[in-house]
Amino acid sequence: MSSTPSGEREKVVSKLPPSLQQELKVRTAQHRVDIQHAVEEGISAWRALGSNLPAVETAGARSFATWLPSGQWDSFRNDCGDRGVSLVQGLAQSVALWLDTHPAPGVQRPAVVRRVVVCNQKGGVGKTAVTAGLGQAFAEDSERLHPSGVSKHFAHARKDAPPGESPLAEHLPGLGLRVLLVDFDPQGHLTKQLGHDLLALDGDSLTKHMAGESKGKLANLVVTVEDERFGERLHLLPSCTDAFLLDVKLSGVRARESGLERALAPLEADYDVILIDCPPSLGLSMDAAAYYGRRRDGERPGNSGILVVVQAEDSSADAYGLLTTQIDDLRSDMHLDLDYLGIVVNHYDARRGYIATSSLESWMAIRDPRVIGLVGDLKEQKEAVRVKQPLLAYAPQCSQAVALRALAREIA
Ligand SMILES: Nc1ncnc2c1ncn2[C@@H]1O[C@H](COP(=O)(O)OP(=O)(O)O)[C@@H](O)[C@H]1O
Ligand SMILES: [Mg+2]
Repeated sequence: MSSTPSGEREKVVSKLPPSLQQELKVRTAQHRVDIQHAVEEGISAWRALGSNLPAVETAGARSFATWLPSGQWDSFRNDCGDRGVSLVQGLAQSVALWLDTHPAPGVQRPAVVRRVVVCNQKGGVGKTAVTAGLGQAFAEDSERLHPSGVSKHFAHARKDAPPGESPLAEHLPGLGLRVLLVDFDPQGHLTKQLGHDLLALDGDSLTKHMAGESKGKLANLVVTVEDERFGERLHLLPSCTDAFLLDVKLSGVRARESGLERALAPLEADYDVILIDCPPSLGLSMDAAAYYGRRRDGERPGNSGILVVVQAEDSSADAYGLLTTQIDDLRSDMHLDLDYLGIVVNHYDARRGYIATSSLESWMAIRDPRVIGLVGDLKEQKEAVRVKQPLLAYAPQCSQAVALRALAREIA
């Protein structure tokens, strides 16, 4: 036993079964409390009990160290003696008691299904990569810890820390949300990179539902993106090549802008988050997607909206101007409350020097919408695409995964 410099807490070394250690780690992260405080509370509660608890299995207990208020451990040791249980058994019971009285908090679900419209009419900026990764981050298991950035992450990266390394990553529980990824691009990159096939041209599709030519339920087209970390929560509505004809097909349809909303409405009750991976164009499909992301009656501002993905280089600034002009026009022509969720700067590579850093600074200077994510240029993304696996399953620890989790938390 040794004392902290301040003398307030002392270091205690004992033993605890690995399963209890692991549960304690996850549960304290879920409640955002320190392990030492949880153990302190558990011991206090145990000491206050009037009778003995049933024995906890302590076989295989491993070394466990924590910091407790001075004196608590000595009193606890005496209590254990009085109750005729070993110190290891007493500690295991105390931790088990804290776990029992602090059940895992339920998943925080948005009151209104969150619609995230990921767009930029410029191709290759990373819309599909960000849509996929963000969806995965929203769906990750809430009973496990995953390295996640915090929002300060990119403020630092601006100066010295390369975003490839994430000095501020902390291990946090997954968000555990039910997610639908909508591949709204006829090229079908999102569908293919998650290992699924495009829908058959002569079958049912989102385009047909939007055009009023549906052949069945849209839900029947949805597939699950499999990985244990997503449970059964991550779904995909695959693309169909007929989406190339969307503008033509919709030309005769009334209220075309609301076509996407009408088509997706029957699915909404099954999801917490719906992400739309937009095509690289400013046509009717962009209008329909933007309309879908508008703020609904009673919806919290910033719950849903537009997420613009840009590249950390000067040439994407022009495309950004065109996009925001279209969005502003839509807002005023149709009197929409359309929020920007923010800008994600992708493909950032500080080693490119002044061009990268100065353009990042100009994106940061926009302020409204503000930059809410910075994703480095990394080989893991390309590798995951090649092996057709979700990035967060293929390389869960890579700094891009960390950045995408941070982005999900920024939006959630
Ligand atoms: N941060 C990144 N690091 C490395 N490669 C990336 C990154 N983001 C996207 N890519 C790759 O760049 C290409 C274009 O990205 P994609 O997401 O398809 O862009 P968009 O949907 O805007 O056309 C893809 O090959 C993708 O794997
Ligand atoms: Mg794309």
